[in-house]
Amino acid sequence: MSIETPPADAPRRRFLATITTGILSIIGGILGVIGGGAVLSSTGGRQEDWLAASALHDLPDNEPTAVTLSVMRVDGYREALVRRTIFLVKTGESEVAAFDATCTHLGCLVGWDPQGQVFKCPCHGGIFDRSGAVMEGPPPEGLMKIATRVDGNRVMVQA
Ligand code: FES
Repeated sequence: MSIETPPADAPRRRFLATITTGILSIIGGILGVIGGGAVLSSTGGRQEDWLAASALHDLPDNEPTAVTLSVMRVDGYREALVRRTIFLVKTGESEVAAFDATCTHLGCLVGWDPQGQVFKCPCHGGIFDRSGAVMEGPPPEGLMKIATRVDGNRVMVQA
């Protein structure tokens, strides 16, 4: 009859296995938090809420009106209140178009020229028509359109 004796280093092996498992668990937890934060920031980096931008009856027909919104932005783990200038254009009885006022060339803010009936960028001469399409200058694409909806007398925009 033989009796097996555990190797002399068995307690040490169990100790190392426990420590290794603990360290791997901590690393896995850290990676989970970082990965979870990246997923949340990629889907929640922009707040997709509807914001009240104007009263419908305050908007003149077919005349772009500049409005400045305060929008909460989430950037990674930071939150910041940023100002965003947009143009609202009442195109029908209860229809409103909206454009971001940021020029698509290098980011200057465009202004509405009521004489020329165009949006003009003061930086490099970019000109956009009232639908936001590029007419002249270096901007590579038209002004960014913003989703709108009208709730009663309130014009809502998707920030
Ligand atoms: S930033 Fe508007 S034309 Fe350059």
